[in-house]
Amino acid sequence: MFDPDSWYAEEIERTIITEDELRAKVAELADQVSRDFADTDELLLVGVFKGAVMFMADFARALSVPVKMEFMALSSYGNSTSSSGTVRILKDIDSDVTGKHIVVVEDIIDSGLTLSWLLKYLEGLNPASVRVVAMLRKPGMQRADIEVSYLGFDIPNEFVVGYGLDYAERYRELPFIGVLKPEVYRKP
Ligand code: IMP
Ligand code: MG
Repeated sequence: MFDPDSWYAEEIERTIITEDELRAKVAELADQVSRDFADTDELLLVGVFKGAVMFMADFARALSVPVKMEFMALSSYGNSTSSSGTVRILKDIDSDVTGKHIVVVEDIIDSGLTLSWLLKYLEGLNPASVRVVAMLRKPGMQRADIEVSYLGFDIPNEFVVGYGLDYAERYRELPFIGVLKPEVYRKP
């Protein structure tokens, strides 16, 4: 719940997805994935630091099938407001994924360029399959042709924070997804 007495009340303009809505959606997505992978004991969740951490933690706990978890850290070249699609791996997965079913757990898909690169990379490691679960998708996605098997919400083309998503490394810990007040961007 948005708490009007909290520190963030001054900085967040409005909530676009509440904590309850996130929780319900995580359960729904986890049910779909649990059903689709009911017969495999080789399911591997791959999350990308740092944005996917909250979603990964909730999603993994909502599943009713066993999984292993891996995290990658990526840096994309280009300026900070648009990703270039050229990616460098800062931290790779630790295990052999050959023959495993992979579900990439993503916070948000904007241009989709980072994810598109990641999917090609993972497919090159010869897994049994690679699918994507993403909590949010923005309309910018058209730039890369990505199939999202499990999607939480389509949101408008606004910059959002919370539930893992940051602005200048802040707001990741908010339990809901919100839009910042414009004056926050103008602060030095
Ligand atoms: P893409 O390669 O353009 O799809 O970049 C996606 C990445 O950009 C996400 O994993 C986020 O780290 C970041 N991003 C895109 N939109 C937002 C937003 O609205 N808020 C916070 N981070 C965002
Ligand atoms: Mg970010």
